[in-house]
Amino acid sequence: MDHDAGAGLLNPYAQTKVGSDTIFAWWARYQEAIASGADAVNGTIGALLEDDGTLAINTVVDEAVRNAPAVEIAAYAPLTGLPAFLDLAKTLALGQRRQELEAMGINITATATAGGSGALYLAANNFSNRGDSVLLRDRYWGPYKGFLSGCDLKIKTYPLLPKGASPYPYVDIDGLKHELSGLCETQDKVMMWINDPAHNPTGLSLTPNGRMAVLEAVMESASVNEHVGHTLLLDAAYHLYAEEPHGWAETLHEAMKNGWPWPENLLITFALSLSKSHTIYGLRTGALVSIHPDPAVTERLGTVMGVTGRQTWSAAPRVSQYAVSEIHASDEGGAAWSEERDRLQDLLVERRTALIAACDELKVPLNPTHDGFFAWLEHEDPNKIAEACATHHVYLVPLTGGVRIGLCAIPLAQIPKVAEALAEALR
Ligand SMILES: Cc1ncc(COP(=O)(O)O)c(C=O)c1O
Repeated sequence: MDHDAGAGLLNPYAQTKVGSDTIFAWWARYQEAIASGADAVNGTIGALLEDDGTLAINTVVDEAVRNAPAVEIAAYAPLTGLPAFLDLAKTLALGQRRQELEAMGINITATATAGGSGALYLAANNFSNRGDSVLLRDRYWGPYKGFLSGCDLKIKTYPLLPKGASPYPYVDIDGLKHELSGLCETQDKVMMWINDPAHNPTGLSLTPNGRMAVLEAVMESASVNEHVGHTLLLDAAYHLYAEEPHGWAETLHEAMKNGWPWPENLLITFALSLSKSHTIYGLRTGALVSIHPDPAVTERLGTVMGVTGRQTWSAAPRVSQYAVSEIHASDEGGAAWSEERDRLQDLLVERRTALIAACDELKVPLNPTHDGFFAWLEHEDPNKIAEACATHHVYLVPLTGGVRIGLCAIPLAQIPKVAEALAEALR
């Protein structure tokens, strides 16, 4: 492709945009293999597939969308979202602890967004100063870079895992603290994004003490640097498929129960996506759910996010907001959705358990992996590993620092083949 084409029409930032086709390129290779009659394995895509390769669909959601009245399909939603959906979004973010947190003085504001991506965009657009850096954990989801650079933001990272033995095996607290204190010296606003639980691309989930250590580190930094605004964004794209879906709310609840003083300059915000949890990837539905003890702050944030949405996508789609609100409005609806969600989660649990066991047996040093759609093999030459796997017709995705194994797409029966291909590739 000629990247200089259109240079006279595109502004300099637009000219830096090049297609990031790695995932699609590897998916295309899988499809070519299938077309040529090979018994190929698809570990490439990021959508949950049934064991027969078709898209897994939560039928309760599908039915609710189809039964929506015409006006709920055709009309605009209110600019910040349907009230019932905004209420639901708060509960989806905080789970059963929501009421207790509110009783402890926490205020919550929610804005409907165009998927989880829209929520990330709202945060990028509003919580950091242009030109500053946002703190990410290594092996972050690739599109973060685009959301941030589009808002003229740079990236600082800390390592995925601690180097030696640590009481927090799944988060590098020292690395986080080090980078955070560096940013506090040069910026008057610091935002951190962490995709937890069920991290894409590794499947990592923090433990309760790991979450508490992160919260304490951020709280301490906010207390010491009282003139620096701190925003901790929890990317909850896969949380409803995790063993502890509302672990962060548990951690917050515990901290507050223990008399934790919430610094004025600390905001915690959840980027919620219903794409996976409700299998409505294409209906572009999510929310940014922010919590803070000062109601004036949450009210102001609600306005700012609504205006930003208005200036970006106008209103988020109405029919999906309506349909999921209807489902969760009744105990029966909620239970029916959960039952389907549990069935889909079981697919992931079975595949992950089988992959861990097979990799153990074949001495494949798979990274720790707990929840969600993916598993990960850290490697300095991911392309070499992915190419070697492809010679066995196992198609995975080489990304920065390792190979992503799309458990969400791999049928249970093909998991042993994936472990064998990885073992061969490492030889
Ligand atoms: C880590 C992560 N965050 C956020 C999203 C946003 O999802 P969507 O915009 O489709 O709701 C995704 C989707 O793949 C993701 O993997």
